[in-house]
Amino acid sequence: MHSHSTTHEAALLGLGAMGVALARAAASRGRRLTVWNRTSAKAAPLAAAGVPVAASVAAAVAASPVVIVCVTDYPATRALLEAVELGGKTLVQLSTGTPQEARELAAWAEARGARYLDGAILAVPSQIGGPNAHIMTSGSREALAAAEGVLGDMAAIQFVGEGPGAAAALDLGVLSTLFGALLGFYHGARLMESEQLGVDGLGGLLSAIAPTLGEMIRIDGEAIHHGRYEAPEASLEICWRSMDLLGRHAREAGIDASFPGFAAAMFHRGLAAGLGHEAPAAMIKVLRAASAQEGARR
Ligand SMILES: NC(=O)c1ccc[n+]([C@@H]2O[C@H](COP(=O)([O-])OP(=O)(O)OC[C@H]3O[C@@H](n4cnc5c(N)ncnc54)[C@H](OP(=O)(O)O)[C@@H]3O)[C@@H](O)[C@H]2O)c1
Repeated sequence: MHSHSTTHEAALLGLGAMGVALARAAASRGRRLTVWNRTSAKAAPLAAAGVPVAASVAAAVAASPVVIVCVTDYPATRALLEAVELGGKTLVQLSTGTPQEARELAAWAEARGARYLDGAILAVPSQIGGPNAHIMTSGSREALAAAEGVLGDMAAIQFVGEGPGAAAALDLGVLSTLFGALLGFYHGARLMESEQLGVDGLGGLLSAIAPTLGEMIRIDGEAIHHGRYEAPEASLEICWRSMDLLGRHAREAGIDASFPGFAAAMFHRGLAAGLGHEAPAAMIKVLRAASAQEGARR
């Protein structure tokens, strides 16, 4: 049942868009992998490429010391593994979830004799196996040592701490930033259209200045970490003015104004709290105060 009797280096459970990309990356680097998917038809292309397909979850797990899961979410992961012997295995969870779900799955796996590594994939399937794919991991260092080889075939691996929730927390932070920015971009796209300009030009410009934008975010992160909001290069009030300007443009151009309306209202809360002359990162004080009020109401 344990690693001495296994025939594959790793099992991969879940062959959705991401699972297939992970499997292809590992298999193409010569990794001995076995795969399984609930809907067996999705395994057919991999089988045709010579990747062994297990007949059941139990068979896939029994055949491999390292078990990698990439399904929709944590409840699906639990449902998959509920009736499977995990003693001595290394379980790697690559499905997206919350830090709390990661901690609970770690405790659940450890209670069943498995080592646990939580992983967050920072890539889309087409990037897997390439230079721009990253997987952040957290949890057991022994689990990392056991799984690092196969995970390294899929992406660059970064270990972010022994607390199993750390990778999921960073992942959610990245998703919050990404999708917040994307909503702003979609408004920017409508702005381009309203001015008869190409949206691809805005996308290209943003790609070119991405390191500059990243630097601004890094500086904001340090400001919040150290609690330094004085003498900013650009104030919170300027941010509000910019969003107010976007709202004015949207009304002039007759385009949807919900994104600038939301952003202006958020920054206005900073102005109302007397933070207009501070750095935009001082918005964290508004959000902290709101959490404290929420906590007091509960
Ligand atoms: N796609 C991305 O760009 C991306 C990026 C980063 C992270 N991720 C994460 O990777 C995970 C998988 O994403 P995906 O894009 O591969 O999703 P997907 O294409 O929708 O595939 C979902 C997979 O989960 C399986 N599944 C769902 N519920 C199940 C259950 N109860 N029992 C067994 N299998 C179950 C599906 O099996 P069936 O085929 O049988 O339905 C399928 O293999 C998600 O947590 C996602 O957030 C994805």
